[in-house]
Amino acid sequence: MNNTILRVERLSVSFATEKGRLTAVEDVSFSLRRGETLGLVGESGCGKSVTALSIMRLLPRPAGRIEAGRIMLENTDLLRLPAADLPGLRGRRIAMIFQEPMTALNPVHRLGQQVAEAVHLHRPELDDKAVGQEVVAMLKQVRIPEPTSRVKAYPHQISGGMRQRVMIAMALAARPDILIADEPTTALDVTIQAQILSLMRDLQAETGTAIIFITHDLGVIAELCHRVAVMYAGRIVESAAVETLFRSPRHPYTQGLLAAIPRLDRTPKAPLATIEGTVPALDTMPPGCRFANRCPRVMERCHLAPPPLVEVGEGHAVACYLYS
Ligand SMILES: Nc1ncnc2c1ncn2[C@@H]1O[C@H](COP(=O)(O)OP(=O)(O)O)[C@@H](O)[C@H]1O
Ligand SMILES: [Mg+2]
Repeated sequence: MNNTILRVERLSVSFATEKGRLTAVEDVSFSLRRGETLGLVGESGCGKSVTALSIMRLLPRPAGRIEAGRIMLENTDLLRLPAADLPGLRGRRIAMIFQEPMTALNPVHRLGQQVAEAVHLHRPELDDKAVGQEVVAMLKQVRIPEPTSRVKAYPHQISGGMRQRVMIAMALAARPDILIADEPTTALDVTIQAQILSLMRDLQAETGTAIIFITHDLGVIAELCHRVAVMYAGRIVESAAVETLFRSPRHPYTQGLLAAIPRLDRTPKAPLATIEGTVPALDTMPPGCRFANRCPRVMERCHLAPPPLVEVGEGHAVACYLYS
């Protein structure tokens, strides 16, 4: 499809560990369309960040290794891009924001200077005055109050929510085609989290940047995303349009995640459902469906081989033997 900007095709990633080389992401495929927000959701340890770092070509080397797959940004396979081309990819075409903005900001430089560097890097034709104006405009765009005085502040002088806004401003400074946001609101309290989500939704509508939004919280997905891919233990187990996924989740893991979202209409004091057990460690991955040992609907065949991802409706795919 020609409105697809990014296609991850059958990506597998391994890490060298004390127990040998182990697969962290296996056979993951998804696509991102222009102007859409795609959610990547799953519990901690499911391979979301490893997938994002693979796209950015930021896997720790030599421990991390791409074993198979392609990552097509339009007609370019990012996995074959020579190292010399990576600076042009990162930031300029694909930008990324992380969970903890403090670690990504330089504590000894003023905010204005850091945003200016991001602007200058991507728009070297601008003189100092124009860069300064652009910095203020960027801070305004991410709704930072009094941007002209904020440029003089240091990162520790502003709140976590404001720091995340600055990171978003820096990420958008290059007008990237794609923004990858890896749990950008996880470290923030609930009110601030809601503000950042609403900001991202507005910016997405204003700029048309395609977003991959990574979270362990399916509730957040509903706020922001058009489509969603659910990851479990390094594989995609279900993908669909957000409304479809929330209306008719098929995979027992997705159903479990949905049941665990706090809801206003739930009977007070009724305990929140949780999925028993934990994600298997990389060295104890079962040969069949990786969710089998936690699945309330497990069958004998689930233990034998991993179920393939099959289409169960338009744009709705699920990897579960209940449906194939
Ligand atoms: N540098 C690394 N070395 C070894 N294992 C790693 C490394 N980075 C991630 N992993 C493993 O890969 C799996 C997926 O991790 P990650 O993508 O960070 O999960 P998520 O972002 O979904 O919480 C986990 O089992 C994690 O322990
Ligand atoms: Mg992560």
